[in-house]
Amino acid sequence: MKTTVDSNNGLVARGGHSNLLVRRPMQIFIFFVGLVLALMFLCNYTSPFGIPILSEYFITPSTTARLYEKNETVLESVLRKASMKDKTVIITNLNDAWAEPGSIFDVFLESFRIGNETQHFLNHLVVINWDQKAHARCQAIHPHCYQIESKSENFTASEAYFMSKDYLHIVWRKIDFLSTVLELGYSFVFTDTDIMWLRNPFKQFYGDADFQSSCDDFNGNSTDLNNAPNTGFSYVKSNERSIWLYKFWFNSSRIYRRMHDQNAFNMIKMHPNISAMNVKIRFLSTTYFGGFCQPSKDFNQVCTMHANCCKGLQNKIDDLKILLDDWRNYTALPENQKQHYSHHSWSVPKHCR
Ligand SMILES: *[C@@H]1O[C@H](CO)[C@@H](O)[C@H](O)[C@H]1NC(C)=O
Ligand SMILES: *[C@@H]1O[C@H](CO)[C@@H](O)[C@H](O)[C@H]1NC(C)=O
Ligand SMILES: *[C@@H]1O[C@H](CO)[C@@H](O)[C@H](O)[C@H]1NC(C)=O
Ligand SMILES: *[C@@H]1O[C@H](CO)[C@@H](O)[C@H](O)[C@H]1NC(C)=O
Ligand SMILES: *[C@@H]1O[C@H](CO)[C@@H](O)[C@H](O)[C@H]1NC(C)=O
Ligand SMILES: *[C@@H]1O[C@H](CO)[C@@H](O)[C@H](O)[C@H]1NC(C)=O
Ligand SMILES: *[C@@H]1O[C@H](CO)[C@@H](O)[C@H](O)[C@H]1NC(C)=O
Repeated sequence: MKTTVDSNNGLVARGGHSNLLVRRPMQIFIFFVGLVLALMFLCNYTSPFGIPILSEYFITPSTTARLYEKNETVLESVLRKASMKDKTVIITNLNDAWAEPGSIFDVFLESFRIGNETQHFLNHLVVINWDQKAHARCQAIHPHCYQIESKSENFTASEAYFMSKDYLHIVWRKIDFLSTVLELGYSFVFTDTDIMWLRNPFKQFYGDADFQSSCDDFNGNSTDLNNAPNTGFSYVKSNERSIWLYKFWFNSSRIYRRMHDQNAFNMIKMHPNISAMNVKIRFLSTTYFGGFCQPSKDFNQVCTMHANCCKGLQNKIDDLKILLDDWRNYTALPENQKQHYSHHSWSVPKHCR
């Protein structure tokens, strides 16, 4: 009986024929095509988000499912120290390459110092670090740093190419992490590190929204879900609706395995369950929260500028430095001349084109 069991589930051995694949190539081929179609259909059918799944999204291993136990004691103490009076924190995240001296993190911090009354926000900024090097650099220059437990995994910057497996892993873990922050009762402004803080954003936020996000392109209507959000800058109030939203968003990673959080958000933003839960979503105007995709046109109103629509770390750094020069030139003007800057355009993007 020694030939009856083998690693091919007995398929090959049982018939005594050494190669079924050669004997019946057509049948085998049809069988596998049928199997794949059946699985795709099944997956489609059971998709909780009710949106067709392309085969591309089908085979990759799951990124998610609340992978990490968290030491919430440590996290909570970091949040408490950084918190504003109303339990709000500002959160950004860093990896090695972005944390290096002269890189994005330095430019980011500089913007708070030269922005209009933005310096005090640094007291409320929590920096989430994805690797040991970023964490060390953060601790050397900033009071509120938190390293996400990365266990055996290696999140060094060079590894986490845009849209690689590691990159996707990081962005989804970020959503999971932010959901924990909300559960701990903290509201937050999440800001990508390539966003320059030039004025107090809180003056421009909507009072009635659970989740508000900046846009790559803003269509003029802050409640219109057809806006193209850029969740790299978002203000989220901690409540049961926002906690639900982040769970829902995180869950969508099971379906949109090959997408990053931003694109997945675009896929789910119109999902009927979100309106059924009464989650209030608002989109922020690029007049105040601009970027290289759609710059703020008014130096007298701009709050933040994002190096979006830009590939390449050095390009971002170079253009953000020029942007800060623009801002310095503007702030150096006497008050009466500042008014003329309502229609002044930025010198950037230059390298980011
Ligand atoms: C949407 O809500 C319905 C009704 O509560 C539920 O059955 C369904 O699973 C929800 N969909 C998702 C994607 O959570
Ligand atoms: C969390 O970290 C604190 C301080 O390092 C430690 O005392 C505590 O035992 C940790 N808790 C868990 C569950 O690991
Ligand atoms: C900050 O902005 C206010 C209002 O636009 C202006 O009056 C003030 O001079 C600015 N402060 C600095 C330091 O530029
Ligand atoms: C992480 O990856 C970097 C670059 O490949 C390597 O130099 C480093 O030793 C790795 N660290 C760990 C803990 O595996
Ligand atoms: C803005 O968008 C909402 C939702 O699509 C719509 O109901 C509303 O009429 C729009 N407002 C304007 C002024 O177009
Ligand atoms: C997310 O998925 C988990 C596990 O399937 C489920 O228990 C939970 O209800 C889902 N949450 C939301 C908000 O869809
Ligand atoms: C800022 O002003 C200086 C001096 O007028 C000028 O040389 C420089 O080009 C300006 N920078 C930008 C980015 O506009």
